[in-house]
Amino acid sequence: MGRAVTVLGHNTDSAFLVIAGVCVMLFLAIIGLTAYFVFRYRRSNGEIPEDIHGNALLETVWTVLPIFIVLYMFYYGWLGYDARRKAPEGALTVRAFAQMWAWSFEYENGVTSDRLVAPVGRPVKVALNSRDLIHSLYVPAFRMKQDAVPGLERTVWFTAEKTGEYDLFCTEYCGTGHSQMLSKAVVMEEAEFAAWLSGAPEAKAALATPSAGPSGAELFKSKGCVACHTTDGRPLVGPTLKGIFGKKVRVSTNGKEREVTIDEDYIRRSELEPASDVVVGFPPVMPPQKGVLKEEEIEALIEYIKSLK
Ligand code: CUA
Repeated sequence: MGRAVTVLGHNTDSAFLVIAGVCVMLFLAIIGLTAYFVFRYRRSNGEIPEDIHGNALLETVWTVLPIFIVLYMFYYGWLGYDARRKAPEGALTVRAFAQMWAWSFEYENGVTSDRLVAPVGRPVKVALNSRDLIHSLYVPAFRMKQDAVPGLERTVWFTAEKTGEYDLFCTEYCGTGHSQMLSKAVVMEEAEFAAWLSGAPEAKAALATPSAGPSGAELFKSKGCVACHTTDGRPLVGPTLKGIFGKKVRVSTNGKEREVTIDEDYIRRSELEPASDVVVGFPPVMPPQKGVLKEEEIEALIEYIKSLK
């Protein structure tokens, strides 16, 4: 997995080493003694087994000693857990949203991104939410893992020590597209981060007037469509969107198959209530976007899909 790149990550690693070390020592002691006794008191030595009834000293030792060992491991684990619960004052706050099957990260100035972008050396607090069911945010290099539970905001934080791109993914099985719920945590130099935060394409779009909102292509990524639909002709969890506008397609409507022509109304209905017409051959797993997408976002996506020749 490589070295941790956060301070808390190093704590996690040392807690892991301590616990693994205790386990290895116990393992060696138990197996070593077992092997020794098997050899030392073997039957061919003429040993006669004898029942023993109670030994207060021995019983006290093997009760008290493990209590301390377990408390020691608990103490190490608690230190790490406690440090993770309280983000330092003045941490940069990022709101993270999980949904089937994509991540989106929202910054205080309204910028949204499908990657968790963070400055190096500065504490970043992630306020984690889910739009549908339980997902789990995991960045192995940060040793950071937290469930995203609908209706309950959980926070985690980290201070990255090194710039770079680190894997970020969902680690709670959440349905067909779970394995595609992949993204990156991108750690930048402070200046680069500031530029990104104010000048990224997504940033410009989010800060501009609503009529010039994010383009359909950007929404296609940031709203998670890309997790299930390709634009290059390959089917994924859902059908590809390449060249579909104006084509006829067989759908299942209330359990009955019928043929429809893909027009603007059809795309709109498929975004808002995907279960109403399900393309034959694909599972009915798309989450409805009613109340999720804004009107101008629906229109931008329709225009984008029309443009995919
Ligand atoms: Cu989201 Cu697995």
